[in-house]
Amino acid sequence: MSLSAAKLLRWYDRHRRTLPWRALPGQTANPYHVWLSEIMLQQTTVTAVIPYFERFTRQFPTVTDLANADQDTVMAAWAGLGYYARARNLHACARRVADMGGRFPDTVEGLRALPGIGPYTAAAIAAIAFGRPVVPVDGNVERVTTRLFAMTDPLPRARPAIAAQAARLNDDPVAHGRPSDFAQALFDLGAGICTPRAPACALCPWRTDCAGQREGIAPTLPRKAPRAARPTRYGVHFHVTDATGGLLLHRREETGLLGGTLGLPGPQWRAERWSMEEGLSHAPLAQPAAQWRHVGEVRHVFTHFTLIVDVYATRVERFPNAIARDGGLVYPRERAQQMGIASLMRKCIALVPDPVE
Ligand code: ADE
Repeated sequence: MSLSAAKLLRWYDRHRRTLPWRALPGQTANPYHVWLSEIMLQQTTVTAVIPYFERFTRQFPTVTDLANADQDTVMAAWAGLGYYARARNLHACARRVADMGGRFPDTVEGLRALPGIGPYTAAAIAAIAFGRPVVPVDGNVERVTTRLFAMTDPLPRARPAIAAQAARLNDDPVAHGRPSDFAQALFDLGAGICTPRAPACALCPWRTDCAGQREGIAPTLPRKAPRAARPTRYGVHFHVTDATGGLLLHRREETGLLGGTLGLPGPQWRAERWSMEEGLSHAPLAQPAAQWRHVGEVRHVFTHFTLIVDVYATRVERFPNAIARDGGLVYPRERAQQMGIASLMRKCIALVPDPVE
């Protein structure tokens, strides 16, 4: 079967989405914008990313501005997008690019060597920003491909075969001539027509080419192997303020989830629930148990587990000097909420009514 890239591109020319990181027809793409959007779009929807992208590019107009910003400023601008390792890699990548004179490498291999850029992101930037004839395979492109070719083997096992088939979409010389538009047309087709649940096949430029549609199985693809249930983990975090409204924070270890971010102190999360007595034995201050208030429970869903956190709060007149030696940092509570604090920790802090009032 020969699929016509021309049909898809004609559809794209009429229906393309206008997105803040996207070049308009006839404009040259800005590699910094393309890269930034791709990093932000990993695990986050287009709608959620748009305001972040706009704020970020106002605050850091070039990759060099981003490279020169300090880590906490970058983390604060990122807060809410989740996956903090991505923000740290983003900053590391900006520094590397700034060291190269502020120019991104223009090949898949060159991009792949940068921090935080995997095979998909390298292909996306190479195609969109530099017109390299490669097909970036994200969830949208996987879905479109499995339907076009009625591929019924389940994910994740089928992934390499899907990627190989997707790469072949590019064999059409018409696709080759417009790699940037072709990649983005596949994204838009996946987002607007070839949607996960109820695809709008009647409107699809490829409806007569689609084996999944012909066989009546398009909406059921891609098939997925049953996923193991998401386990639950348990945490305890402590909210301690002093008479001036200062809030005690700790910087989390660089490795692991939320690595390098500021958060409420507490022991490592684990698979078993914590009794109150055991939880309080990890408190950052030797307060009598009666001085701690259990203010509630926060539930937070990470990719690989659900976390349930018991939050305990107390107030002290002033923090002992030893607190800094143990890695404690004290910030005004309202400022802490604006800094690079993960959503999980914001939720924990929000459980405690403003203690200075
Ligand atoms: N998803 C991933 N990259 C995208 C892009 N550049 N435009 C729209 N959706 C996307």
